[in-house]
This record gives sequence, structure tokens and C-alpha cells, in this order.
Amino acid sequence: MREVAVIGVGCTKFGEKWESSFRNLFVEAGALALEDANLSGEQIDEIFVGNMSAGRFVEQEHIGALIADYAGLATDNIPATRVEAACASGGLSFRQAYTAVASGMSDIVVAAGVEKMTDVGTEVTTDVLAAAADREWEGIAGITFPGLYAMIATEYMHRYGLTREQLAQVAVKNHDNGAKNPNAQFRKPITLDTVINSTLVADPLRLFDCSPVTDGAAAVILAPLERAREFTDTPIKVLGAGQASSTIALHDRKDICTLDATVAAGNRAFQMAGVERKDIGFVEVHDCFTIAEICAIEDLGFCKKGEAGKLTEEGQTAIGGKIPINPSGGLKACGHPVGATGVKQVYETVKQLRGDAKGRQIDTEIGMTHNVGGTGATVVCHIFGRV
Ligand code: COA
Repeated sequence: MREVAVIGVGCTKFGEKWESSFRNLFVEAGALALEDANLSGEQIDEIFVGNMSAGRFVEQEHIGALIADYAGLATDNIPATRVEAACASGGLSFRQAYTAVASGMSDIVVAAGVEKMTDVGTEVTTDVLAAAADREWEGIAGITFPGLYAMIATEYMHRYGLTREQLAQVAVKNHDNGAKNPNAQFRKPITLDTVINSTLVADPLRLFDCSPVTDGAAAVILAPLERAREFTDTPIKVLGAGQASSTIALHDRKDICTLDATVAAGNRAFQMAGVERKDIGFVEVHDCFTIAEICAIEDLGFCKKGEAGKLTEEGQTAIGGKIPINPSGGLKACGHPVGATGVKQVYETVKQLRGDAKGRQIDTEIGMTHNVGGTGATVVCHIFGRV
């Protein structure tokens, strides 16, 4: 396999983007990534695009071809492929692009992700997202994503004594980070009281325990490491890649407080990268709900089971702490356009490793991403390093 680097990154601002269409969101992010890599469209060999549910959110399917067309690349007939794994669609798009370059099949490859969620109401959005769970055993019984993660939170709090305040601190920390990220949907710091007194969504999860509904797109460009300096002075190398799957229904898991696919994908990425947990300077984890961040920190091996609440309370997951988590603001404050999130995590990681994350900069050589589909039926992890 060839070594692979990220040579350019682009991201739209996340939020409610009334002014932009689904296709224009992709074009905006793609153009930013091309500009960042000093490339023109004709130099692109292949595109992957992560998207969960454009068919239901904007009534558009056939996303690979659409994206190639509106990127102005259809006349070059380049391959363009949609990748879908619910909220892990973006991470999987990156993995497919990585594999295409590493295998030698293609040289200059775009990994993008896009979702436009706000054109439908909350009821429809909730139902579309519920399709990432097991429709026949979960969705049909009326269970929603906040509901599923609320079950994890209830069991976790009972078993490990996680306090309401510790859980809320995840959101406080991520809103603090989001306030420093110009692309974030929410840019206001909040307090523990804001979280604890916000509207109950699915007990014990409240409004500020949830990631929001978001429009947005992100795109990154990959190339063989040996060619990377043709395009940029600051290539960021892909050190490790891990993907794993688990049961689609939460009730079929051995333990609902552990996302076993996170454990497997994380271990695979670490094994391939040949680095240890202590070498990682920060992680962009999939905090679709506050409890998801708590589980991710533990399942990726940064502390023992039951200890992430204390770690968070002590400020060890904040920028400047022992293991900063979600310097971008995470899904909680940056927003969660489901198909784009995994690519946005790579965008943030590259910005950090290049030293371009003004206001939220972490001084480190190595960063990690962790993207989850459903309640952990698909997990994709990547580890990146400065060259
Ligand atoms: N965190 C903080 N504030 C939020 C928010 C969130 N997650 N979601 C909405 N808001 C704010 C809005 O900005 C708005 O504020 P304003 O009145 O100051 O403008 C207010 O709350 C009402 O927004 P609205 O869009 O009407 O909320 P809603 O009730 O329709 O949706 C949720 C709230 C929690 C149901 C929705 O955000 C949601 O479903 N989140 C989970 C998404 C999800 O499951 N993703 C997949 C995970 S795997």
C-alpha cells in the first residue's frame, strides 16, 4: 500500500443554511478544498461523497453523479461514488478515498460529505434519523435517537455513578470550543445551568445534551504522500485507519454502555499507526449526545470504563487538558449535518496539525477522528500526523 496524505481541506459554515441548496453546499466546500490544495478540478481523479439521506431530506438521490456534475467534472467522466453509513457516512467516505489512493487505483481523490437537514420539520428529521437504527425492532416501536442514547445514559449513570453535572460538562466544554470555531453552528459559551435546566428531550437527555439539526458540507483532498509536496508545504499524513461494525439494534449488544465497534475500530487504527494513546494530542469524537462522548473517551482507551465523567469534570478533556476532546466544538456545538460530520472531523484535525486552528490551537504532532453510525453499528477511526 502507498502512504497517503491530505493535501487540501474545505468546509462550509454549519447551521441552518436557507440561502444555499444541497448541491451548492458541496460545491462551496469542494471549491475551498481545491483552492487550499492549489488544484484545479481537472486534476481530480475520483470523488467519494458521504451522504445519509438526501432522498428524504431534499428528495434527491443519485448523489455521486449530481456532485460530479455540479462540481463541473461530469464532462471529464471521473468516477463519483456516494457512500452511506448513517452518521458515519463522512468517515466512511474518507476511508474509501484513502483506500483508493493507498491501493494505487487513483492519485488525487476528493473525500466529501454533505447533508441538508433543515428543509423538513423536526418530526420528519427525527424519523429519517431513526432509520439508522433497526426499523423492525426499534423504529417501529417509536424509539428515536435521543431515546436510544437516553437508554445508554440511564444505564451508564446507574452503573458508574455519572452525575448530571458531569454529563452537562461535556456540553459546556464543547460549546466553549465551538465559540472559538468560525464554522460552528453555536458560538455561545453556556453554563451547567443552561444544560441542566434546558427542555427535557428523552430523560435524562435535555436539549443541550443533543447535537442539533444542521446543514453543511466538508471536503478534503488526498494524494500519495510522495506527491503531496507538489501541492502543499504542509501535507498531513494518514497514519492509521480502522473501521468496524456491530449489531444494528442496541438491545443485541453485549453491553449497551460500550460501543464495541468503537473499541475495534480504535484498536485497528492504533495498531496500523503504530502509536500509543499517550501520543495522541486531541481527538474529534462523535458526541451526537453528551453520553456518546463519555463512552467514546473510554472505548477508545483514553481512560478506564466509568472514569470519563470525572476526567471531563476535572477539565482534562478541555483544550489544555490531558487529552483534549472535540476542539472544533464537536457535533454538539459545531453542528451535525450527518453525512458531512466525519469529513468535518478530518478538516478540523488537519487544521490543528497544520497550526491553523486559531483561538483553539493545540500544539501536537498527532490527532485522531472517531465517527459513529447509529448507536455504534458502524464506527470509523483515523489517526493523522504531521510529516
Ligand atoms: N442544542 C442547543 N440548542 C438547540 C439544539 C441543540 N441540540 N437544537 C435546537 N436548539 C435551539 C435552536 O437554536 C432554537 O433556539 P432559538 O429559539 O434561540 O432560535 C431552539 O433550540 C428551538 O429549535 P428547534 O429547531 O425548534 O428545536 P427542535 O425542538 O425542533 O429540535 C431536537 C430539538 C433536540 C429535537 C433536535 O435538535 C434533535 O433532534 N437533535 C438530535 C439530532 C440527532 O438525533 N442526530 C443524530 C444523532 S446520531
